Amino acid sequence: METDRLTLRRWRDDDLDALAAINADPQVMRHILDGSVRDRGQSAESLRTMMRDWDERGFGLFAVQERASGELIGWAGLAVPAFLPEVLPAVEIGWRLGRRFWGRGYATEAAAAALRFGFDEVGLDRVVSIRHVDNVRSARVMEKLGLVHEFDTVVPVHEQPVAVHAITRARYGEGAAG
Ligand SMILES: CC(C)(COP(=O)(O)OP(=O)(O)OC[C@H]1O[C@@H](n2cnc3c(N)ncnc32)[C@H](O)[C@@H]1OP(=O)(O)O)[C@@H](O)C(=O)NCCC(=O)NCCS
Repeated sequence: METDRLTLRRWRDDDLDALAAINADPQVMRHILDGSVRDRGQSAESLRTMMRDWDERGFGLFAVQERASGELIGWAGLAVPAFLPEVLPAVEIGWRLGRRFWGRGYATEAAAAALRFGFDEVGLDRVVSIRHVDNVRSARVMEKLGLVHEFDTVVPVHEQPVAVHAITRARYGEGAAG
């Protein structure tokens, strides 16, 4: 899929270098699960998982590329939030960008396309998004996408406090996401 400035596409094996660099940055990973960085082997595993999810579910996390440079800047898309059993069954929208690409509206632009894909192509009725309570950038992205804060809870495995946001198909259809 193409947006004004971005291409959202399926993953390729040669995305590993860029993905591993993003996942090795402590600033990027600060609010993800227990906040630990991933080594190259873990990023390779996560690349395989993202490819497999697309094959098995028909949706997943898109590789996001900057159209002007052709660089892989991170990902945005749909996943099943197995780390938070109390919200299941659910589909989550999420995003992760390399730090160089923050603050340009790219996360919102990519996620808006992924949300449209979820409602229009996958046929979802509701999409959730889950963030560490301190992740204010993500809170802002969720707000701009039209997601509404529902409740706060704690991730059982890491005991991280998180906020759960959601948007229904009806709210989306009313133009909440602009
Ligand atoms: C979350 C993330 C994708 C946001 O990327 P981004 O490119 O900065 O996002 P956008 O530019 O689309 O929007 C960010 C919004 O947060 C705002 N923001 C930035 N820093 C902020 C701060 N310290 N406090 C409050 N708002 C802030 C921006 O102003 C912007 O809102 P605006 O358009 O109204 O000005 C990026 O920071 C990231 O990859 N973080 C690490 C991974 C991560 O945490 N993923 C999400 C897990 S839930």
